Amino acid sequence: MIKIGEIVLEDFPVLLAPMEDVSDPPFRYVCKMFGADIMYTEFISSEGLIRDAVKSVKKLDFSDFERPIGIQIFGHDIESMIKAAKYAESVSPDIIDINFGCPVKKVASKGAGSGIMNNIPKMVAMTAAVVKATHLPVTVKTRLGYDEDRKDIVEIAERLQDVGIQALTIHGRLRTTRSSVPADWTLIGKVKENQRMNIPIFGNGDVLDGPSAKYYKDTYGVDGLMVARGSYGNPWIFREIKHYLKTGELLPAPDIHERIRISSLQLQKSVEWKTERQALMEMRKHWSDYFKGFPNFKSFRIRMMQIDAYEPMLDLLKEVGAYYSGFDPSQSIGEIRTASDLPSACLP
Ligand SMILES: Cc1cc2nc3c(=O)[nH]c(=O)nc-3n(C[C@H](O)[C@H](O)[C@H](O)COP(=O)(O)O)c2cc1C
Repeated sequence: MIKIGEIVLEDFPVLLAPMEDVSDPPFRYVCKMFGADIMYTEFISSEGLIRDAVKSVKKLDFSDFERPIGIQIFGHDIESMIKAAKYAESVSPDIIDINFGCPVKKVASKGAGSGIMNNIPKMVAMTAAVVKATHLPVTVKTRLGYDEDRKDIVEIAERLQDVGIQALTIHGRLRTTRSSVPADWTLIGKVKENQRMNIPIFGNGDVLDGPSAKYYKDTYGVDGLMVARGSYGNPWIFREIKHYLKTGELLPAPDIHERIRISSLQLQKSVEWKTERQALMEMRKHWSDYFKGFPNFKSFRIRMMQIDAYEPMLDLLKEVGAYYSGFDPSQSIGEIRTASDLPSACLP
């Protein structure tokens, strides 16, 4: 059993990562259906939130079905982070999460996200202030360190625990590591081994399927995993990972009818949440992932990029279903994930 404040989770939870422009309410809905244990909003600018910027406020939306849900905030100014935490608390999420991991220049160069990792005292002071500002459990998501010379995560983890965070997610890369470089979980394992640590430690980076999840669980002893890119067009990954950890067996890849059922449900939730046109635009980045590994999909994809209304998209999805009826995606999907995405050390 894993506890984060009053939240009680089954052993070895699998979390959906915060992902800007991806982990919005429609996508979270389908991930929850397949067992994501905790989910997070996309990161929200503290400055944007306290200015009431429409884009930031919209990111606070969630439904009860998604609980337990964390609202993730970022910023460089402690006072703004305090105000943002209180604002986020007013919509009654389950967790406030602080983003100390974003490496994007416009965020990190101002000293927010992973940019704060070269100033550990400020990182600790900001965390302490947010913990004090809210009655909700506060969690942190961060990286291994600022750069090659400052791989400080073991010290950072202790100091953040000491000021009251209730769980820590560590992405196995530095601020400076490109996402094409395999994640390094060695220091995540060191944090977990540290006898002083007693909060849940979740590992993140390159968890793409059941076998990679098992490898990281067994090798580094973390309390749970967080999945980001592995969930693209693949909300089934939570069920797959749990099944594999329990049985050592792979589930068959979802067939075409299941893919259409779930992708059109995500579309429907998106239409309910935004305008029809916006929903169709947003879904454009998801279609190729839902049908990854399906031969000759390109011509359907081109047509999907041109449709901006709900009913015509449903008609096209019916055509896709008829075209691929009987096609078994298991083998091609497996090849795609292991060959191109996983570091070789993760192969079972
Ligand atoms: C499109 C995209 C958007 C992301 N947005 C966020 C974010 O808003 N907050 C955050 O903490 N991390 C964000 N991340 C980082 C992921 O949460 C995760 O740490 C990283 O992708 C490594 O995990 P993975 O190997 O499972 O993809 C983002 C990653 C991607 C690919």
